[in-house]
Amino acid sequence: MRTPLIAGNWKMNMDLHSARVLVSGIVSELPAVADKVEVAICPSYVYLFPMAKAIAGSPLQLGAQDLFFESAGAFTGEVSAAMVADTGARYAILGHSERRHTIGHLEDDWMIHRKVAAALAASLTPILCVGETLAEREAGQTLEVVTFQLVAALNGIKPAKASDLVVAYEPVWAIGTGKTATPQQAQEVHAHIRAELRGLYGDLADEIRILYGGSMKPDNAAELIGQADVDGGLIGGASLKPASFVGIIAAALAS
Ligand code: PGA
Repeated sequence: MRTPLIAGNWKMNMDLHSARVLVSGIVSELPAVADKVEVAICPSYVYLFPMAKAIAGSPLQLGAQDLFFESAGAFTGEVSAAMVADTGARYAILGHSERRHTIGHLEDDWMIHRKVAAALAASLTPILCVGETLAEREAGQTLEVVTFQLVAALNGIKPAKASDLVVAYEPVWAIGTGKTATPQQAQEVHAHIRAELRGLYGDLADEIRILYGGSMKPDNAAELIGQADVDGGLIGGASLKPASFVGIIAAALAS
């Protein structure tokens, strides 16, 4: 039985005041999730400490949007996995498509692999993002691309337990565009990811959560999360307003 995870990826949004207002709005509208759904927020690095304080005593958990794979040294501007863990964060989003493709092509699969290893070594749970571009989907390469990204990132990585790893399928063409994968398109790729995970980790694969990300909203969340291999969502735009984020959490609770 996989507990759905709803994680809000705030990206480079919010200032300190609006972040506090958002968290208190989410906490006050949050239905009783108990152990039925896990909820995390992933603010900018600079707000991890104040958000750790803001969510204290609530069911919300904390995640970072990235980390650097080296443990210390002359890496100006970078943040290590241990530094992220020091804030109280449990998760780190790794290999997000904006970092792979948009921000100056910063990330390659080797770097993402090293980040996954660094996160696990610091007892953080990676939310490893994979997904195809529109050109790759149109060329019929979706499953191949996803397999390559997954295997490259996880090669030689052995999570001790299923909860040590989360995968997010985020079709690049659906991120921030308002275009969502159909539930059938999502399920096809999620089932493929689970089969690849089974090849890597055997039966542990049945317990590893695979999130969908890409224009998930309260009105499409139930159908997406209702798919057999969709175990929650990585939410961008809709995580920035209490009503829409909580609406997605409610859909996950009902799934
Ligand atoms: P979106 O972003 O929900 O705004 O499409 C999802 C993501 O990039 O993680």
